[in-house]
Amino acid sequence: MSRVAHPAGPRHADVLPADHPPAPPGDLNALDPAIWPRGARRAGGTPGDGAVGVLALGGIDVRDLAARFGTPALIMDEADVRSRAREYVDAFGDDARVYYAAKAFCSRAVLRWVTEEGLGVDVCTGGELAVALSAGIDPALITLHGNNKLPAEIEQAVAVGVGHIVVDSFEEIARLAYHAEQYQPAAAAARPRVLVRVTTGVEAHTHEFMATAHDDQKFGFSLASGAADEAVRRVIALPQLEFAGLHSHIGSQIFDTGGFEVAAHRVLELAGRVHAEHGVHVAELDLGGGFGIAYVPEDDAPEIKHLASSLRSIVASQCVAFGIPVPRLTIEPGRGIVGPSTVTLYEVGTIKDVDGIRTYVSVDGGMSDNVRTALYDAEYTCVLASRSSDAPPMLSRVVGRHCESGDIVVRHCYLPSDLAPRDLLAVAATGAYCRSLASNYNHLPRPGVVAVADGAAREIVRRETLDDLLRLDVG
Ligand SMILES: Cc1ncc(COP(=O)(O)O)c(C=O)c1O
Repeated sequence: MSRVAHPAGPRHADVLPADHPPAPPGDLNALDPAIWPRGARRAGGTPGDGAVGVLALGGIDVRDLAARFGTPALIMDEADVRSRAREYVDAFGDDARVYYAAKAFCSRAVLRWVTEEGLGVDVCTGGELAVALSAGIDPALITLHGNNKLPAEIEQAVAVGVGHIVVDSFEEIARLAYHAEQYQPAAAAARPRVLVRVTTGVEAHTHEFMATAHDDQKFGFSLASGAADEAVRRVIALPQLEFAGLHSHIGSQIFDTGGFEVAAHRVLELAGRVHAEHGVHVAELDLGGGFGIAYVPEDDAPEIKHLASSLRSIVASQCVAFGIPVPRLTIEPGRGIVGPSTVTLYEVGTIKDVDGIRTYVSVDGGMSDNVRTALYDAEYTCVLASRSSDAPPMLSRVVGRHCESGDIVVRHCYLPSDLAPRDLLAVAATGAYCRSLASNYNHLPRPGVVAVADGAAREIVRRETLDDLLRLDVG
């Protein structure tokens, strides 16, 4: 066995794969505060004390969490979620609205936490709507999204009186008006409040954005083709609907405001046309979500208060340019609220040295609990969690146990070279789009989600069992 340690001699440098990470961190046990949950610590104490160096989340030793809840498990720091939710609300101020995009992770507990902190909730299916309603969320605080809302979903949204419906196609505008008439024929005040989703031709990811004239994607009404103007025209013309404003969402994991600036410019230009044509003031501008977080040390995520002041000044200056009143600003962060709060705990299984290249560390989960690496080359940070180690760094790839060679959880990392089967590994920033995109591939039960707060832990999403899966097989 020859584990690839770093730094290494010339032989190592010769064979090191081109896509290796830049350099090992100075201290493999360190927890970068920009990446790990705010309540993550390594236990202090005196050498010889069995807990020294063990990762604790929300004040609880990860070995206790693994013993009680099993692995893999997603451990979510409640205080972290609440504090980020509050930061968004405080940064954007009383005259703006923040909606949590439940697609990032949708559970009753989390929807209650964020609404208690002053946020609304975005849902995009009847399933997410059912979770929100069963959590007791006030329907007025809910926005319904989706490019193909089923008639039953529209009907339910109208019947319960959700706060906003974001329309995405001409068929849907007609369907919505029909259901509104069926359910609330008399009450003008209860008409569905409609946001028209505009495709601005801006696509943004991390540091890059593209502003194009064509809109080759499934969401929204194209500005370039005039469809957005026509959608507004139809909504305003229908007495069953209340035109509330315009919506735009440009992408995900965005680190700067350049893309938002172009999108806001284009949407507010439309707002100017709406005012000129209909005499109607666009009261609300929803600029969507997509605010980036740090997964690895190289990710330089924006501070929320800077983001808020840039977006507000962008909107204000564009409104001056178009001679229109400033609409109420809404944003819809998902990842930015729950992403950094959560750590996935895995148990290490096999450890295989691919001689001279790297060490493959297999864990007891994989692409069924975190498909983001396989799906879009997402990067993650991980550490040995059940102890600390002074062993030299070992160039590693953390892989799952599925029958796919692309079943990778962390493509590049350095782990201590004394890593052993049964050690616990923690992968950071897995709160968004991991459990919500989880699957039962290879008939693996999906992991539970455990909330930790002030030294107490409780499951908020139960771990699936094989019996759960077998119950569905009715053949
Ligand atoms: C319309 C809309 N709003 C908000 C979000 C949330 O994005 P994020 O989790 O990156 O903040 C998404 C994500 O796809 C979205 O499609």
